[in-house]
Amino acid sequence: MKEPKFAIKTLGCKVNQYEEQVLRENLQRFGFSESEPRTADIFIVNSCTVTGKADLKTRRLIRQVKRGNPEIKIFVTGCYAVFEKDIERLSYMPEVFKVIPAKDKLRLPVMIKDLFGIKRGDMGVREQISRFNSHSRAFLKIQDGCDQNCAYCKVSLVRGPSRCRDEREVIGEVTRLSKAGYREIVLTGICLGSWKGSKGQSISRLLKEMDGMDGMFRIRLSSIEPDLIDDLLIGTIAGSRRICRHLHIPLQSGSDRVLKRMNRRYDTERFRELIRNIRGQMPFAGITMDIITGFPGEDGTDFYRTMMLVKETKPSRLHVFKYSDREGTRSFDLEGKVHVRTAKERAKRLIEAGKELQAGFCRNFAGRRVEVLVEKKNGTMLEGYTGEYVRARMEGYQASEGDLISIEVNDIDEETPCVVNKKGSSLKI
Ligand code: 5AD
Repeated sequence: MKEPKFAIKTLGCKVNQYEEQVLRENLQRFGFSESEPRTADIFIVNSCTVTGKADLKTRRLIRQVKRGNPEIKIFVTGCYAVFEKDIERLSYMPEVFKVIPAKDKLRLPVMIKDLFGIKRGDMGVREQISRFNSHSRAFLKIQDGCDQNCAYCKVSLVRGPSRCRDEREVIGEVTRLSKAGYREIVLTGICLGSWKGSKGQSISRLLKEMDGMDGMFRIRLSSIEPDLIDDLLIGTIAGSRRICRHLHIPLQSGSDRVLKRMNRRYDTERFRELIRNIRGQMPFAGITMDIITGFPGEDGTDFYRTMMLVKETKPSRLHVFKYSDREGTRSFDLEGKVHVRTAKERAKRLIEAGKELQAGFCRNFAGRRVEVLVEKKNGTMLEGYTGEYVRARMEGYQASEGDLISIEVNDIDEETPCVVNKKGSSLKI
């Protein structure tokens, strides 16, 4: 029998995207080839369930793909395929061929192989990657699960307790990705900061080891909890030329009362001190943040405090989420639910404030040199991100996608906003 062609789509976080790549490489190892959903025999949906919107997007994708290709067999896995109720709902969708609970996600290539009676490739699934399709940066999962128990979070429930990948395995994967030409490797995890090595080493130790490696690549950390960033980690980043000066720190709220109800492990005073420490050592570090608006019990004063803390700590970029009530989480049972209109309105105001702060952060780089990973190329127009995670545009520059280049910022585009290098233009600030 001819091997079926597969297509795969991931929703949500970088860990999920890493796992998509693991699935892809194993399916290819078993002899399957990848194609567009329209021409594929099998479609794998690697779902996300962080918010109700993520669930909705998953269901929408399933219907859309089936409409475009009625013969396709749709397999659904990922975080939306964990709770009995969710699995049932997905299984009842007439478009769905089979729901694979998330705990069996990585066995999916073997299951598909067996289902189609394919004998080749008796070996098991390898949980590693050697490249990253359709990305100029590679994501590397070093940790999974979370023990923090934040009241709003469904992900910690569906992913389970924290587990870490061994340091040798991680270093081996960095070596492989670097040799494959990746100039940026993003370390990811569900609770990245809780990573510990086989002998209890901290993430700072791991970063120091990566710092000493050969190769032309930079390392970026994805989201890391404020209570897990210590002085050693800040010092390690500040003392490194390889680690991007960018921290994504989920703040969630600027009100101590709300943080407590969320079961977060820090207060606003500690958060302020953390930001001061980071900026004290790295004045131009990019600090991006997540905020949730409309958490149960959040009143006007709480929101005002969030707005004030955001304006004070000046994130370089802000991700704003409207609170989504997730069944099974602790906040699902909390009193004082906030009307979605209010949550929306608060989100809108924060997004606006965030845009201004983003443009302001961009202006810091006028006249400075930055390192950009080229992600898009359109003739002689290039686009990418700096180490600080500022968008950059290069006009009339010779480079290719995936290159890491050093440019001088000689213009700022306040609209986008992004830093610009225009050949021959003088600084207009
Ligand atoms: N509602 C809204 N946003 C949420 N997040 C996590 N759970 C919820 C929820 N129930 C947001 C947090 C987190 C980001 C990845 O998703 O801000 O940092």
